[in-house]
Amino acid sequence: MTSTAPLALSDILENRRSCRAFLPKSLSDDELRKLLAPSLRAPSNCNTQPWYLHIASGDVLERLRKRLPEDFAAGRMTLDFPYDGKYVDIFKDRQYASAQALYGAMGIARDDRDARQAAFMRNFTFFDAPHVGFFYLPEGFSEREACDLGMFSQSVMLLLEAAGLASCPQTALGFLSDSIREELSVPQNQRLMFGLSFGYPDLEAPANRCTTDRDEANELIALHR
Ligand SMILES: Cc1cc2nc3c(=O)[nH]c(=O)nc-3n(C[C@H](O)[C@H](O)[C@H](O)COP(=O)(O)O)c2cc1C
Repeated sequence: MTSTAPLALSDILENRRSCRAFLPKSLSDDELRKLLAPSLRAPSNCNTQPWYLHIASGDVLERLRKRLPEDFAAGRMTLDFPYDGKYVDIFKDRQYASAQALYGAMGIARDDRDARQAAFMRNFTFFDAPHVGFFYLPEGFSEREACDLGMFSQSVMLLLEAAGLASCPQTALGFLSDSIREELSVPQNQRLMFGLSFGYPDLEAPANRCTTDRDEANELIALHR
């Protein structure tokens, strides 16, 4: 998130952080297309390229920025994919640690429910980002092709990072799939997996001081001979 100089891929991976405060500086459509085109080189099962990326900017984005907090507050939630992962044991611990890292960086106490809720609601105003991408999986595909979508979206995030921009992937945006579909006129046979707010990072913002750990490589990558 900090450098605009050409970097090794390992540095780009190391530097990328989820960004939750952006500067009001946007890219033109031409710049967006040029920057993101290489992401389409992501691999996919049988080269099916099972992904659609809809990017909202300008007036469309401002309409979403007004509408999504209202729709969420009014309980108008719709998900194209169920939110039914089992966050238990070590996965629960990691989830807890990531929330603590974020709220700690923002100076929000563990028991301050109002402040935590306000921080969560910033998902729906895209942390003030000037652009938001929405990643869709075509109908008829499931976990296997969702992996392809993940590889595509990581490619997008790394290209942004390499260009000095930053992003935040957001499951929260998938909670309002009908609202987003309506505003962007997305066909019914595309199903929303998650959103990605992006733009230039506000490096002074407390939310962007959040850093997260990773478990040791030898815990997660098993080598067999
Ligand atoms: C698919 C996906 C969905 C996520 N959803 C959210 C979200 O809704 N809101 C949010 O603030 N962060 C979200 N995150 C960001 C994660 O919390 C973050 O990636 C994790 O804590 C690791 O931190 P890092 O990205 O800074 O390395 C999401 C990340 C991914 C990959």
